[in-house]
Amino acid sequence: MSDGGHVWWEDAVVYEVYPRSFADADGDGVGDLPGLRSRLGYLADLGVDAVWLTPFYPSPLADGGYDVSDYRAVDPLLGTMADFDGLVKDAAAYRIRVIVDLVPNHCSSAHPLFRAALAAAPGSPERARFIFRDGRGPGLPPNNWVSQFGGSAWTRVTEADGEPGQWHLHLFDTSQPDWNWRNPDVPALFEDVIRFWLDRGVAGLRVDVAHGLFKDPDLPDIVERRPLSAPSPYRHRPELKALYRSWRAILDSYPDEGFPGPRTAIGEVWYDVPGTLRPYLATGGLPQVFNFQLILAGWQTAAFREAIDSALALTGGSRAPWVLGNHDVARPASRYRLDEGFTPQTVAELIALGDRNAEVGARRARAAALILLALPGSAYIYQGEELGLPEVTDIPDDARRDPAFRRTNAEHPGRDGCRVPLPWARTGTGFGFSLTQDGGRPAEPWLPQPPDWGRHSVDSQLADEHSFLGLYRTALRLRRVHPALGRGTLRWLDREDSSLLCFAREPGFILAANLGTAPAPLPAHREVLLASGPVTGGGLPPDTAAWLSA
Ligand code: NOJ
Repeated sequence: MSDGGHVWWEDAVVYEVYPRSFADADGDGVGDLPGLRSRLGYLADLGVDAVWLTPFYPSPLADGGYDVSDYRAVDPLLGTMADFDGLVKDAAAYRIRVIVDLVPNHCSSAHPLFRAALAAAPGSPERARFIFRDGRGPGLPPNNWVSQFGGSAWTRVTEADGEPGQWHLHLFDTSQPDWNWRNPDVPALFEDVIRFWLDRGVAGLRVDVAHGLFKDPDLPDIVERRPLSAPSPYRHRPELKALYRSWRAILDSYPDEGFPGPRTAIGEVWYDVPGTLRPYLATGGLPQVFNFQLILAGWQTAAFREAIDSALALTGGSRAPWVLGNHDVARPASRYRLDEGFTPQTVAELIALGDRNAEVGARRARAAALILLALPGSAYIYQGEELGLPEVTDIPDDARRDPAFRRTNAEHPGRDGCRVPLPWARTGTGFGFSLTQDGGRPAEPWLPQPPDWGRHSVDSQLADEHSFLGLYRTALRLRRVHPALGRGTLRWLDREDSSLLCFAREPGFILAANLGTAPAPLPAHREVLLASGPVTGGGLPPDTAAWLSA
Protein backbone atom coordinates (compact mmCIF):
# COMPACT_ATOMS: atom_id res chain seq x y z
CA MET A 1 0.00 0.00 0.00
CA SER A 2 1.12 3.56 -0.53
CA ASP A 3 -0.11 6.99 0.43
CA GLY A 4 -2.20 6.45 3.55
CA GLY A 5 -3.80 3.16 2.57
CA HIS A 6 -4.60 4.20 -1.01
CA VAL A 7 -3.00 2.56 -3.96
CA TRP A 8 -1.42 4.57 -6.74
CA TRP A 9 -3.70 3.33 -9.50
CA GLU A 10 -6.85 4.57 -7.81
CA ASP A 11 -6.26 8.10 -9.07
CA ALA A 12 -3.38 7.70 -11.48
CA VAL A 13 -3.25 9.70 -14.69
CA VAL A 14 -1.99 7.23 -17.23
CA TYR A 15 -0.65 8.23 -20.65
CA GLU A 16 -1.24 5.78 -23.46
CA VAL A 17 1.75 5.43 -25.77
CA TYR A 18 1.32 3.94 -29.22
CA PRO A 19 5.04 3.25 -29.57
CA ARG A 20 5.23 3.22 -33.36
CA SER A 21 3.85 6.76 -33.45
CA PHE A 22 5.33 8.40 -30.36
CA ALA A 23 9.00 9.12 -31.08
CA ASP A 24 11.58 7.55 -33.38
CA ALA A 25 15.18 7.52 -32.15
CA ASP A 26 16.89 5.77 -35.05
CA GLY A 27 15.41 7.73 -37.94
CA ASP A 28 13.73 4.81 -39.73
CA GLY A 29 10.33 6.51 -39.62
CA VAL A 30 8.91 4.12 -37.00
CA GLY A 31 8.63 5.08 -33.34
CA ASP A 32 10.65 2.95 -30.93
CA LEU A 33 11.48 2.35 -27.27
CA PRO A 34 14.64 4.49 -27.30
CA GLY A 35 12.50 7.29 -28.77
CA LEU A 36 10.05 6.98 -25.90
CA ARG A 37 12.92 6.79 -23.44
CA SER A 38 14.35 10.02 -24.79
CA ARG A 39 11.02 11.78 -24.25
CA LEU A 40 10.37 10.70 -20.66
CA GLY A 41 11.25 14.19 -19.48
CA TYR A 42 8.36 15.53 -21.56
CA LEU A 43 5.97 13.09 -19.89
CA ALA A 44 7.31 13.95 -16.45
CA ASP A 45 6.80 17.67 -17.16
CA LEU A 46 3.31 16.91 -18.41
CA GLY A 47 2.68 15.34 -15.02
CA VAL A 48 1.53 11.78 -15.69
CA ASP A 49 1.89 8.95 -13.20
CA ALA A 50 2.25 6.04 -15.60
CA VAL A 51 2.50 5.10 -19.25
CA TRP A 52 0.63 2.26 -20.92
CA LEU A 53 2.49 0.92 -23.94
CA THR A 54 0.42 -0.73 -26.65
CA PRO A 55 2.16 -3.85 -28.05
CA PHE A 56 5.86 -3.51 -28.89
CA TYR A 57 6.37 -7.26 -29.29
CA PRO A 58 7.56 -8.99 -32.47
CA SER A 59 4.68 -8.86 -34.90
CA PRO A 60 4.02 -8.93 -38.64
CA LEU A 61 1.95 -5.78 -37.95
CA ALA A 62 -1.24 -6.98 -39.55
CA ASP A 63 -3.10 -5.19 -36.73
CA GLY A 64 -0.70 -2.57 -35.40
CA GLY A 65 1.10 -5.08 -33.15
CA TYR A 66 -2.06 -6.73 -31.76
CA ASP A 67 -0.93 -9.72 -33.78
CA VAL A 68 1.84 -10.95 -31.51
CA SER A 69 4.32 -13.56 -32.69
CA ASP A 70 6.39 -13.63 -29.49
CA TYR A 71 4.93 -12.47 -26.17
CA ARG A 72 8.24 -12.31 -24.37
CA ALA A 73 10.40 -10.18 -26.67
CA VAL A 74 10.74 -6.70 -28.18
CA ASP A 75 10.21 -6.23 -31.92
CA PRO A 76 13.70 -5.48 -33.31
CA LEU A 77 12.17 -2.55 -35.21
CA LEU A 78 11.30 -0.99 -31.86
CA GLY A 79 14.41 -1.86 -29.87
CA THR A 80 15.80 -4.54 -27.60
CA MET A 81 14.97 -6.01 -24.22
CA ALA A 82 17.81 -3.90 -22.83
CA ASP A 83 15.99 -0.82 -24.17
CA PHE A 84 12.83 -1.96 -22.41
CA ASP A 85 14.64 -2.53 -19.11
CA GLY A 86 16.32 0.84 -19.48
CA LEU A 87 12.95 2.44 -20.14
CA VAL A 88 11.46 0.99 -16.96
CA LYS A 89 14.48 2.13 -14.98
CA ASP A 90 14.54 5.65 -16.41
CA ALA A 91 10.78 5.99 -16.04
CA ALA A 92 11.06 5.01 -12.37
CA ALA A 93 13.61 7.78 -11.89
CA TYR A 94 10.88 10.18 -13.06
CA ARG A 95 8.31 8.39 -10.81
CA ILE A 96 6.53 7.12 -13.90
CA ARG A 97 5.25 3.54 -13.88
CA VAL A 98 5.06 1.34 -16.95
CA ILE A 99 2.00 -0.70 -17.93
CA VAL A 100 2.23 -3.15 -20.84
CA ASP A 101 -0.39 -4.69 -23.09
CA LEU A 102 -1.39 -8.34 -22.77
CA VAL A 103 -3.07 -9.79 -25.84
CA PRO A 104 -4.65 -13.07 -24.72
CA ASN A 105 -7.56 -13.53 -27.12
CA HIS A 106 -5.44 -14.20 -30.18
CA CYS A 107 -1.87 -14.22 -31.43
CA SER A 108 -0.35 -13.79 -34.88
CA SER A 109 -0.47 -16.54 -37.46
CA ALA A 110 3.33 -16.16 -37.36
CA HIS A 111 3.41 -17.36 -33.71
CA PRO A 112 5.41 -20.63 -33.54
CA LEU A 113 2.52 -22.44 -31.83
CA PHE A 114 0.11 -21.52 -34.61
CA ARG A 115 2.64 -22.53 -37.23
CA ALA A 116 2.96 -25.84 -35.42
CA ALA A 117 -0.83 -26.16 -35.44
CA LEU A 118 -0.93 -25.57 -39.19
CA ALA A 119 1.77 -28.16 -39.75
CA ALA A 120 0.00 -30.73 -37.55
CA ALA A 121 -2.99 -32.85 -38.46
CA PRO A 122 -6.63 -32.18 -37.61
CA GLY A 123 -7.35 -33.45 -34.10
CA SER A 124 -3.71 -33.06 -32.98
CA PRO A 125 -2.69 -31.50 -29.62
CA GLU A 126 -1.09 -28.65 -31.61
CA ARG A 127 -4.42 -27.75 -33.22
CA ALA A 128 -6.22 -28.05 -29.88
CA ARG A 129 -4.53 -24.84 -28.67
CA PHE A 130 -6.55 -22.91 -31.25
CA ILE A 131 -10.10 -23.25 -32.55
CA PHE A 132 -10.03 -25.44 -35.60
CA ARG A 133 -13.20 -27.01 -36.93
CA ASP A 134 -14.42 -28.74 -40.06
CA GLY A 135 -16.70 -26.71 -42.29
CA ARG A 136 -20.39 -27.46 -42.17
CA GLY A 137 -20.75 -28.12 -45.85
CA PRO A 138 -18.84 -27.67 -49.07
CA GLY A 139 -16.95 -24.37 -48.79
CA LEU A 140 -19.02 -23.36 -45.76
CA PRO A 141 -17.38 -22.14 -42.54
CA PRO A 142 -18.31 -23.85 -39.24
CA ASN A 143 -20.69 -21.06 -38.22
CA ASN A 144 -21.88 -17.59 -39.19
CA TRP A 145 -19.66 -15.49 -36.89
CA VAL A 146 -18.18 -12.37 -38.43
CA SER A 147 -14.81 -10.80 -37.77
CA GLN A 148 -14.74 -7.45 -35.93
CA PHE A 149 -12.88 -6.14 -38.94
CA GLY A 150 -15.47 -7.41 -41.43
CA GLY A 151 -15.91 -10.68 -43.33
CA SER A 152 -16.17 -14.18 -41.91
CA ALA A 153 -14.49 -14.99 -38.59
CA TRP A 154 -13.18 -18.22 -40.14
CA THR A 155 -10.35 -18.90 -42.56
CA ARG A 156 -9.82 -22.22 -44.26
CA VAL A 157 -6.36 -23.74 -44.07
CA THR A 158 -4.49 -25.87 -46.54
CA GLU A 159 -3.65 -29.30 -45.12
CA ALA A 160 -0.38 -31.22 -45.56
CA ASP A 161 -1.78 -32.93 -48.67
CA GLY A 162 -2.24 -29.54 -50.34
CA GLU A 163 -6.03 -29.76 -50.11
CA PRO A 164 -8.30 -27.20 -48.41
CA GLY A 165 -9.10 -28.60 -44.98
CA GLN A 166 -10.23 -27.29 -41.59
CA TRP A 167 -11.13 -23.73 -40.68
CA HIS A 168 -9.67 -21.65 -37.86
CA LEU A 169 -11.48 -19.02 -35.87
CA HIS A 170 -10.33 -15.39 -35.74
CA LEU A 171 -12.59 -12.77 -34.22
CA PHE A 172 -10.27 -10.15 -35.71
CA ASP A 173 -8.04 -10.36 -38.79
CA THR A 174 -7.48 -13.67 -40.55
CA SER A 175 -3.86 -13.48 -39.35
CA GLN A 176 -4.97 -13.28 -35.69
CA PRO A 177 -6.01 -16.83 -34.73
CA ASP A 178 -8.03 -17.08 -31.50
CA TRP A 179 -6.52 -19.15 -28.70
CA ASN A 180 -8.57 -21.99 -27.25
CA TRP A 181 -8.82 -20.98 -23.61
CA ARG A 182 -10.24 -24.39 -22.70
CA ASN A 183 -6.90 -26.00 -23.51
CA PRO A 184 -4.70 -26.00 -20.35
CA ASP A 185 -1.59 -25.03 -22.34
CA VAL A 186 -3.10 -21.61 -23.01
CA PRO A 187 -3.66 -20.35 -19.44
CA ALA A 188 -0.25 -21.81 -18.54
CA LEU A 189 1.41 -19.87 -21.37
CA PHE A 190 -0.20 -16.60 -20.29
CA GLU A 191 0.68 -17.08 -16.63
CA ASP A 192 4.27 -17.27 -17.75
CA VAL A 193 3.90 -14.17 -19.88
CA ILE A 194 2.32 -12.21 -17.03
CA ARG A 195 5.12 -13.19 -14.65
CA PHE A 196 7.74 -12.43 -17.29
CA TRP A 197 6.69 -8.78 -17.51
CA LEU A 198 5.93 -8.33 -13.81
CA ASP A 199 9.41 -9.67 -13.07
CA ARG A 200 10.81 -6.93 -15.31
CA GLY A 201 9.21 -4.33 -13.06
CA VAL A 202 6.04 -3.38 -14.88
CA ALA A 203 3.31 -1.86 -12.73
CA GLY A 204 0.43 -3.44 -14.58
CA LEU A 205 -1.12 -4.97 -17.64
CA ARG A 206 -3.77 -3.69 -19.99
CA VAL A 207 -5.81 -6.72 -21.02
CA ASP A 208 -6.84 -6.65 -24.67
CA VAL A 209 -10.37 -7.88 -25.53
CA ALA A 210 -10.87 -8.82 -21.87
CA HIS A 211 -14.52 -9.66 -22.60
CA GLY A 212 -13.45 -12.29 -25.16
CA LEU A 213 -11.14 -15.31 -24.69
CA PHE A 214 -13.67 -18.06 -23.87
CA LYS A 215 -16.11 -19.19 -26.54
CA ASP A 216 -19.25 -21.26 -26.15
CA PRO A 217 -17.91 -24.79 -26.80
CA ASP A 218 -20.80 -25.47 -29.20
CA LEU A 219 -19.88 -22.44 -31.32
CA PRO A 220 -23.55 -21.78 -32.09
CA ASP A 221 -24.65 -19.46 -34.89
CA ILE A 222 -25.42 -15.90 -33.85
CA VAL A 223 -29.15 -15.59 -34.38
CA GLU A 224 -29.47 -11.86 -34.04
CA ARG A 225 -27.22 -8.83 -33.67
CA ARG A 226 -27.00 -8.35 -29.93
CA PRO A 227 -26.06 -5.27 -27.93
CA LEU A 228 -22.46 -5.24 -26.73
CA SER A 229 -23.47 -6.07 -23.17
CA ALA A 230 -25.68 -9.05 -23.90
CA PRO A 231 -24.31 -12.53 -23.17
CA SER A 232 -23.01 -13.98 -26.39
CA PRO A 233 -21.14 -17.11 -27.48
CA TYR A 234 -17.89 -15.14 -27.44
CA ARG A 235 -18.38 -12.24 -25.03
CA HIS A 236 -18.62 -11.96 -21.23
CA ARG A 237 -18.48 -15.75 -20.70
CA PRO A 238 -18.82 -16.87 -17.05
CA GLU A 239 -15.51 -18.76 -17.26
CA LEU A 240 -13.67 -15.43 -17.29
CA LYS A 241 -14.32 -14.90 -13.61
CA ALA A 242 -12.10 -17.77 -12.42
CA LEU A 243 -9.40 -16.84 -14.91
CA TYR A 244 -9.22 -13.25 -13.74
CA ARG A 245 -9.20 -14.34 -10.10
CA SER A 246 -6.13 -16.42 -10.90
CA TRP A 247 -4.44 -13.45 -12.57
CA ARG A 248 -5.32 -11.22 -9.64
CA ALA A 249 -3.65 -13.70 -7.33
CA ILE A 250 -0.49 -13.42 -9.42
CA LEU A 251 -0.61 -9.61 -9.35
CA ASP A 252 -1.17 -9.62 -5.60
CA SER A 253 1.75 -11.97 -5.06
CA TYR A 254 4.14 -9.18 -6.15
CA PRO A 255 5.39 -6.83 -3.41
CA ASP A 256 3.06 -3.91 -2.89
CA GLU A 257 5.59 -1.76 -1.08
CA GLY A 258 7.79 0.73 -2.88
CA PHE A 259 7.89 1.47 -6.57
CA PRO A 260 5.99 0.35 -8.66
CA GLY A 261 3.79 -0.77 -5.69
CA PRO A 262 0.57 -2.77 -6.01
CA ARG A 263 0.23 -4.06 -9.56
CA THR A 264 -2.86 -3.44 -11.60
CA ALA A 265 -4.52 -5.03 -14.59
CA ILE A 266 -7.02 -3.03 -16.58
CA GLY A 267 -9.42 -4.83 -18.85
CA GLU A 268 -10.65 -3.62 -22.21
CA VAL A 269 -14.34 -4.45 -22.04
CA TRP A 270 -16.77 -2.84 -24.45
CA TYR A 271 -20.33 -2.60 -23.20
CA ASP A 272 -23.44 -0.48 -23.51
CA VAL A 273 -24.93 -1.30 -20.11
CA PRO A 274 -22.47 -0.32 -17.36
CA GLY A 275 -23.62 -3.18 -15.10
CA THR A 276 -21.75 -5.43 -17.55
CA LEU A 277 -18.58 -4.48 -15.71
CA ARG A 278 -19.76 -5.88 -12.40
CA PRO A 279 -18.55 -9.49 -12.75
CA TYR A 280 -15.16 -8.32 -13.98
CA LEU A 281 -14.71 -6.11 -10.95
CA ALA A 282 -16.13 -8.59 -8.42
CA THR A 283 -13.95 -9.23 -5.39
CA GLY A 284 -10.74 -10.88 -6.43
CA GLY A 285 -11.29 -10.07 -10.10
CA LEU A 286 -9.51 -7.55 -12.30
CA PRO A 287 -8.42 -4.49 -10.32
CA GLN A 288 -9.70 -2.17 -13.07
CA VAL A 289 -11.75 -2.09 -16.26
CA PHE A 290 -11.87 0.82 -18.70
CA ASN A 291 -14.95 2.94 -18.59
CA PHE A 292 -15.65 3.98 -22.17
CA GLN A 293 -18.88 5.84 -21.41
CA LEU A 294 -17.37 9.27 -22.09
CA ILE A 295 -16.26 8.10 -25.54
CA LEU A 296 -19.77 6.98 -26.32
CA ALA A 297 -21.48 10.08 -24.91
CA GLY A 298 -22.52 12.85 -27.28
CA TRP A 299 -21.83 16.50 -26.47
CA GLN A 300 -24.90 17.02 -24.30
CA THR A 301 -25.10 17.61 -20.58
CA ALA A 302 -27.58 14.79 -20.08
CA ALA A 303 -25.37 12.29 -21.92
CA PHE A 304 -22.29 13.27 -19.93
CA ARG A 305 -24.17 13.24 -16.67
CA GLU A 306 -25.62 9.83 -17.40
CA ALA A 307 -22.20 8.50 -18.39
CA ILE A 308 -20.66 9.83 -15.19
CA ASP A 309 -23.46 8.67 -12.89
CA SER A 310 -23.63 5.18 -14.28
CA ALA A 311 -19.88 4.67 -13.98
CA LEU A 312 -19.70 6.12 -10.48
CA ALA A 313 -22.59 3.96 -9.31
CA LEU A 314 -20.56 0.87 -10.13
CA THR A 315 -17.34 1.43 -8.23
CA GLY A 316 -16.40 5.07 -8.37
CA GLY A 317 -13.84 6.16 -10.92
CA SER A 318 -10.93 4.39 -9.28
CA ARG A 319 -11.65 0.97 -10.68
CA ALA A 320 -13.15 2.10 -13.97
CA PRO A 321 -10.83 4.88 -15.23
CA TRP A 322 -12.17 7.63 -17.46
CA VAL A 323 -11.05 7.96 -21.06
CA LEU A 324 -11.85 10.36 -23.90
CA GLY A 325 -9.98 8.48 -26.60
CA ASN A 326 -7.49 5.80 -27.51
CA HIS A 327 -5.81 4.30 -30.56
CA ASP A 328 -9.10 2.74 -31.71
CA VAL A 329 -11.44 5.74 -31.82
CA ALA A 330 -11.60 9.10 -33.59
CA ARG A 331 -9.68 11.79 -31.76
CA PRO A 332 -11.77 14.00 -29.43
CA ALA A 333 -10.70 17.28 -31.06
CA SER A 334 -12.41 16.05 -34.24
CA ARG A 335 -15.08 13.80 -32.76
CA TYR A 336 -16.65 16.73 -30.92
CA ARG A 337 -17.25 18.47 -34.23
CA LEU A 338 -20.24 16.13 -34.28
CA ASP A 339 -22.84 16.26 -31.52
CA GLU A 340 -23.14 12.47 -31.17
CA GLY A 341 -20.80 10.14 -29.33
CA PHE A 342 -18.41 7.76 -31.06
CA THR A 343 -19.87 5.08 -33.34
CA PRO A 344 -18.26 2.90 -36.02
CA GLN A 345 -19.44 5.53 -38.55
CA THR A 346 -17.75 8.49 -36.88
CA VAL A 347 -14.59 8.58 -38.99
CA ALA A 348 -16.59 8.38 -42.23
CA GLU A 349 -18.83 11.22 -40.96
CA LEU A 350 -15.78 13.33 -40.18
CA ILE A 351 -14.42 12.75 -43.65
CA ALA A 352 -17.77 13.88 -45.07
CA LEU A 353 -17.73 16.97 -42.84
CA GLY A 354 -14.63 18.38 -44.56
CA ASP A 355 -13.31 21.53 -42.88
CA ARG A 356 -16.50 22.47 -41.10
CA ASN A 357 -16.66 22.93 -37.32
CA ALA A 358 -12.95 22.47 -36.61
CA GLU A 359 -12.91 25.26 -34.03
CA VAL A 360 -15.92 23.84 -32.22
CA GLY A 361 -14.27 20.42 -31.96
CA ALA A 362 -11.08 21.85 -30.50
CA ARG A 363 -12.96 24.04 -27.99
CA ARG A 364 -15.04 21.11 -26.79
CA ALA A 365 -12.02 18.82 -26.53
CA ARG A 366 -10.35 21.36 -24.22
CA ALA A 367 -13.49 21.54 -22.09
CA ALA A 368 -13.76 17.74 -22.06
CA ALA A 369 -10.17 17.51 -20.77
CA LEU A 370 -11.10 19.62 -17.76
CA ILE A 371 -14.16 17.46 -17.12
CA LEU A 372 -12.07 14.28 -17.42
CA LEU A 373 -9.39 15.42 -15.01
CA ALA A 374 -11.88 16.73 -12.44
CA LEU A 375 -13.74 13.42 -12.13
CA PRO A 376 -13.13 11.16 -9.14
CA GLY A 377 -10.63 8.39 -9.76
CA SER A 378 -8.16 7.56 -12.47
CA ALA A 379 -7.97 8.90 -16.03
CA TYR A 380 -6.19 7.82 -19.20
CA ILE A 381 -4.88 10.26 -21.82
CA TYR A 382 -4.05 9.00 -25.30
CA GLN A 383 -0.83 10.44 -26.78
CA GLY A 384 -1.51 13.60 -28.73
CA GLU A 385 -4.72 14.44 -26.88
CA GLU A 386 -2.64 16.88 -24.85
CA LEU A 387 -1.67 18.54 -28.15
CA GLY A 388 -5.27 18.67 -29.37
CA LEU A 389 -4.34 16.59 -32.41
CA PRO A 390 -7.24 16.20 -34.81
CA GLU A 391 -8.19 12.95 -36.51
CA VAL A 392 -6.32 12.81 -39.82
CA THR A 393 -9.06 12.24 -42.36
CA ASP A 394 -7.17 12.45 -45.64
CA ILE A 395 -4.74 9.54 -45.44
CA PRO A 396 -4.44 8.18 -48.99
CA ASP A 397 -5.97 4.74 -49.41
CA ASP A 398 -2.66 3.15 -50.30
CA ALA A 399 -1.08 4.44 -47.08
CA ARG A 400 -3.81 3.06 -44.80
CA ARG A 401 -2.65 0.15 -42.63
CA ASP A 402 -5.67 -0.76 -40.52
CA PRO A 403 -7.03 -4.20 -41.47
CA ALA A 404 -10.55 -2.83 -40.97
CA PHE A 405 -10.08 -0.71 -44.11
CA ARG A 406 -9.05 -3.66 -46.25
CA ARG A 407 -11.48 -6.20 -44.79
CA THR A 408 -14.49 -3.92 -45.30
CA ASN A 409 -13.42 -3.09 -48.86
CA ALA A 410 -12.78 0.51 -47.81
CA GLU A 411 -16.27 0.93 -46.36
CA HIS A 412 -14.71 1.72 -42.96
CA PRO A 413 -11.76 4.13 -43.20
CA GLY A 414 -10.31 2.45 -40.11
CA ARG A 415 -8.23 3.74 -37.21
CA ASP A 416 -5.10 5.10 -38.89
CA GLY A 417 -6.31 8.69 -38.49
CA CYS A 418 -5.70 8.65 -34.73
CA ARG A 419 -2.33 6.90 -35.06
CA VAL A 420 -0.40 9.43 -37.15
CA PRO A 421 3.10 10.02 -35.71
CA LEU A 422 3.32 12.88 -33.21
CA PRO A 423 4.69 16.28 -34.24
CA TRP A 424 7.44 17.39 -31.88
CA ALA A 425 8.86 20.28 -33.94
CA ARG A 426 7.34 23.03 -36.10
CA THR A 427 9.19 21.98 -39.24
CA GLY A 428 11.42 19.30 -40.72
CA THR A 429 10.95 15.75 -41.93
CA GLY A 430 8.39 14.12 -39.67
CA PHE A 431 8.06 17.37 -37.67
CA GLY A 432 10.65 16.14 -35.18
CA PHE A 433 9.10 12.68 -34.86
CA SER A 434 12.33 11.07 -36.05
CA LEU A 435 15.77 11.84 -34.74
CA THR A 436 18.99 10.58 -36.20
CA GLN A 437 22.24 9.97 -34.39
CA ASP A 438 24.35 11.47 -37.16
CA GLY A 439 22.09 14.41 -37.93
CA GLY A 440 21.24 12.94 -41.36
CA ARG A 441 17.81 13.16 -42.90
CA PRO A 442 15.44 10.65 -41.32
CA ALA A 443 13.01 8.48 -43.25
CA GLU A 444 9.45 9.71 -43.75
CA PRO A 445 7.10 8.59 -40.93
CA TRP A 446 5.37 5.25 -41.46
CA LEU A 447 1.98 7.00 -41.73
CA PRO A 448 1.88 10.32 -43.57
CA GLN A 449 1.46 13.46 -41.48
CA PRO A 450 -0.65 16.39 -42.75
CA PRO A 451 1.38 19.35 -44.11
CA ASP A 452 0.25 21.64 -41.27
CA TRP A 453 1.05 19.10 -38.50
CA GLY A 454 3.80 21.41 -37.20
CA ARG A 455 1.30 23.89 -35.81
CA HIS A 456 0.17 21.22 -33.31
CA SER A 457 3.74 20.36 -32.37
CA VAL A 458 5.12 20.26 -28.86
CA ASP A 459 7.62 23.02 -29.74
CA SER A 460 4.94 25.38 -30.94
CA GLN A 461 2.80 24.88 -27.83
CA LEU A 462 5.35 24.57 -25.05
CA ALA A 463 5.83 28.22 -24.28
CA ASP A 464 2.12 29.11 -24.51
CA GLU A 465 0.12 28.48 -21.36
CA HIS A 466 -3.09 28.95 -23.35
CA SER A 467 -2.24 26.17 -25.79
CA PHE A 468 -3.72 22.68 -25.48
CA LEU A 469 -0.46 21.50 -23.98
CA GLY A 470 -0.41 24.42 -21.58
CA LEU A 471 -3.95 23.60 -20.46
CA TYR A 472 -3.12 19.92 -19.83
CA ARG A 473 0.07 20.75 -17.98
CA THR A 474 -1.66 23.26 -15.73
CA ALA A 475 -4.60 20.94 -15.10
CA LEU A 476 -2.34 18.04 -14.19
CA ARG A 477 -0.28 20.23 -11.87
CA LEU A 478 -3.41 21.52 -10.12
CA ARG A 479 -4.81 18.01 -9.91
CA ARG A 480 -1.72 16.89 -8.04
CA VAL A 481 -1.88 19.58 -5.42
CA HIS A 482 -5.61 20.23 -4.99
CA PRO A 483 -6.94 18.18 -2.07
CA ALA A 484 -10.35 17.74 -3.73
CA LEU A 485 -9.03 16.15 -6.92
CA GLY A 486 -8.10 12.58 -7.66
CA ARG A 487 -9.93 9.81 -5.79
CA GLY A 488 -13.14 10.62 -3.92
CA THR A 489 -16.71 11.52 -4.72
CA LEU A 490 -18.67 14.29 -6.39
CA ARG A 491 -21.93 16.07 -5.64
CA TRP A 492 -24.01 17.40 -8.49
CA LEU A 493 -24.93 21.04 -8.21
CA ASP A 494 -28.36 21.00 -9.71
CA ARG A 495 -29.11 23.88 -11.97
CA GLU A 496 -32.12 24.90 -13.92
CA ASP A 497 -29.93 25.70 -16.86
CA SER A 498 -29.55 22.15 -18.08
CA SER A 499 -26.74 22.99 -20.47
CA LEU A 500 -24.40 23.43 -17.51
CA LEU A 501 -22.69 20.33 -16.20
CA CYS A 502 -21.76 21.24 -12.68
CA PHE A 503 -20.44 19.30 -9.72
CA ALA A 504 -18.70 20.01 -6.45
CA ARG A 505 -15.86 18.10 -4.85
CA GLU A 506 -14.70 18.59 -1.30
CA PRO A 507 -12.93 20.55 -0.11
CA GLY A 508 -13.79 23.64 -2.07
CA PHE A 509 -13.79 22.65 -5.73
CA ILE A 510 -16.39 23.11 -8.46
CA LEU A 511 -16.37 21.96 -12.05
CA ALA A 512 -18.66 23.87 -14.41
CA ALA A 513 -18.86 22.99 -18.10
CA ASN A 514 -21.19 24.55 -20.61
CA LEU A 515 -22.30 21.99 -23.18
CA GLY A 516 -25.05 24.26 -24.51
CA THR A 517 -25.21 26.97 -27.13
CA ALA A 518 -25.66 30.11 -25.00
CA PRO A 519 -23.49 31.56 -22.23
CA ALA A 520 -24.45 30.22 -18.79
CA PRO A 521 -24.07 31.96 -15.44
CA LEU A 522 -21.32 30.49 -13.29
CA PRO A 523 -22.25 29.04 -9.91
CA ALA A 524 -21.21 31.01 -6.83
CA HIS A 525 -17.45 30.72 -6.43
CA ARG A 526 -14.40 32.50 -5.10
CA GLU A 527 -11.97 32.20 -7.94
CA VAL A 528 -11.54 30.73 -11.41
CA LEU A 529 -8.62 28.33 -11.01
CA LEU A 530 -8.43 27.29 -14.64
CA ALA A 531 -10.65 27.57 -17.70
CA SER A 532 -10.56 25.87 -21.06
CA GLY A 533 -11.28 29.20 -22.84
CA PRO A 534 -11.88 32.87 -22.07
CA VAL A 535 -14.33 33.46 -19.22
CA THR A 536 -15.78 36.94 -19.09
CA GLY A 537 -18.21 38.70 -16.81
CA GLY A 538 -20.98 37.39 -19.07
CA GLY A 539 -20.68 33.88 -17.67
CA LEU A 540 -19.33 30.65 -19.07
CA PRO A 541 -19.35 30.64 -22.89
CA PRO A 542 -20.62 27.59 -24.79
CA ASP A 543 -18.19 24.67 -25.13
CA THR A 544 -16.11 25.90 -22.21
CA ALA A 545 -15.27 24.39 -18.82
CA ALA A 546 -13.88 25.97 -15.68
CA TRP A 547 -12.36 24.77 -12.44
CA LEU A 548 -13.54 27.00 -9.63
CA SER A 549 -12.68 27.34 -5.97
CA ALA A 550 -15.76 27.39 -3.77
C1 NOJ B 1 -8.35 -3.88 -29.10
C2 NOJ B 1 -7.17 -3.08 -29.50
O1 NOJ B 1 -7.19 -1.86 -28.81
C3 NOJ B 1 -7.27 -2.92 -31.00
O2 NOJ B 1 -6.35 -1.98 -31.48
C4 NOJ B 1 -7.09 -4.27 -31.63
O3 NOJ B 1 -7.30 -4.16 -33.02
C5 NOJ B 1 -8.10 -5.27 -31.08
N1 NOJ B 1 -8.25 -5.19 -29.65
C6 NOJ B 1 -7.67 -6.68 -31.41
O4 NOJ B 1 -6.53 -7.01 -30.68
